[in-house]
Amino acid sequence: QAQREKQLKDLYGILDEAARFYQQQLTQHPQRDSAVSYLKGRGLSGQAAKAFGIGYAPPGWDNLMQALGADKQRIEALEQAGMLIHNEERNSHYDRFRDRIIFPIRDMRGRVIAFGGRVLGDEKPKYLNSPETETFHKGRELYGLYEARQTNAQLQRLLIVEGYMDVVGLAQNGIHYAVATLGTATSAQHLERLFKVVPEVVFCFDGDTAGRKAAERALETTLPVIRDGQEARFLFLPEGEDPDSLVRTEGRDNFQTRINQALPLSEYFFRSQTEQADLESMDGRARFSTRALPLIRAMQPSLLQQMMLERICEITGLSLEQINSVINLHQVTTD
Ligand code: UTP
Ligand code: MN
Ligand code: MN
Ligand code: MN
Ligand code: MN
Repeated sequence: QAQREKQLKDLYGILDEAARFYQQQLTQHPQRDSAVSYLKGRGLSGQAAKAFGIGYAPPGWDNLMQALGADKQRIEALEQAGMLIHNEERNSHYDRFRDRIIFPIRDMRGRVIAFGGRVLGDEKPKYLNSPETETFHKGRELYGLYEARQTNAQLQRLLIVEGYMDVVGLAQNGIHYAVATLGTATSAQHLERLFKVVPEVVFCFDGDTAGRKAAERALETTLPVIRDGQEARFLFLPEGEDPDSLVRTEGRDNFQTRINQALPLSEYFFRSQTEQADLESMDGRARFSTRALPLIRAMQPSLLQQMMLERICEITGLSLEQINSVINLHQVTTD
């Protein structure tokens, strides 16, 4: 046990050293110009880069390994930290992150636990992330949460966005409360963590098909976990925009207005459910209710749940008793 703790401590130590190394490369490496002009081209300020510890992994297969991998033990530790890849055929190691802008990912306590790296051009993959390690569990961590809490210890609301640059771009433009799920879907674990910190979350995914799908999935993940006293809302961006691009073009105040007008969960729920059904016809209303009811039933017992059920009653013209009796009958007969 004591040995495991020591190992973990070494892991955090190495990740911290790596973060410092990349940051240093952004200001000192002879080939830093391409990285610096890339960031400048995207409008990133030096201050924002510093606040998020943004760095640069220079081109080459072993920059990090040369700098931090003094001996075999250190090399294995770097591998465990996700920073080196072991080539079995050659029995050698090489840097995972090469020629990429580096975003350190921190846990709630501010410890570096992983990295994301962006290419400077159009190569694929656009972003490379650390693998799952002992310190990094993707489905749980939120990029920017530590930084947001550093800026404001009494956060009331968090904005959930897709990407690194969304978090950084928003912060640079005065919106310091965005966090990103890092290319994975919003999980129940994410939501639990978020609602421990704030009573309100606003989902704000990219204005594209993938972003709208992500919102739909976030809705389905949120319904079963949300409780009275907590609020989830949804902000949809114009086609082709993401939070970073939009806040840069329209500025903080306009973006802030959009956040304030984001759709409450129940409104988004009924809107998206009714879009798929024709409420003009009895048949459509029955189809709509059949789809919506299981999702509402999966919610925590709450006032919100009760009110959403009421809404179904309004739409169908049936009482709760009538609905329940049909559904119970249905369940009995189909079991
Ligand atoms: P996007 O494709 O929307 O990228 O992916 P972005 O954040 O707007 O990136 P920029 O503005 O072009 O730099 C959203 C997020 O999904 C994850 C990253 O966390 C990214 O920020 N992602 C995306 C990956 O992990 N790998 C990828 O190849 C692409
Ligand atoms: Mn190895
Ligand atoms: Mn996207
Ligand atoms: Mn973007
Ligand atoms: Mn995007």
